[in-house]
Amino acid sequence: MSKQVYILNGPNLNLLGKRQPEIYGNETLEDVRLSCEAFAGEAGLAVEFRQSNAEHELIDWIQEAREKADGIVINPAAYSHTSVAILDALNTCDFPVIEVHISNIHRREHFRHHSYVSARADGVIAGCGTQGYTLALQRLATLLKEA
Ligand code: DQA
Repeated sequence: MSKQVYILNGPNLNLLGKRQPEIYGNETLEDVRLSCEAFAGEAGLAVEFRQSNAEHELIDWIQEAREKADGIVINPAAYSHTSVAILDALNTCDFPVIEVHISNIHRREHFRHHSYVSARADGVIAGCGTQGYTLALQRLATLLKEA
């Protein structure tokens, strides 16, 4: 049976492709979903791909993944830098968590340098553009194979 992976996207990532393309590139979130699904198909993973602008919804989905999934890829977007609640939700999960940032948050404003989610993440990918999502899936597939 395929392993189930939730790919969760935080606020403003629905505007990918339109939003500051000099930072986040021209691909849309739908493009990212399609690349993730193609990669997952080859790696034998089943993908649930979601985006929300609401912190509580992301937390509800992490709690759902806790019951239904084998791993999470999450780009918490701005909530990375503010949300102890998302960290707490991820801390209830005992499967691999990979954090993704499209941009290199360490080369940007100081307030983006710290991510609460990194305290739980098994791996962090930043600055690889939207390719970071399939890199994260590749890592997750390795971790799930090893488990
Ligand atoms: C982001 C980086 C965050 O600092 C920012 O708030 C985002 C996107 C990224 O993917 O590079 O919305 O997580």
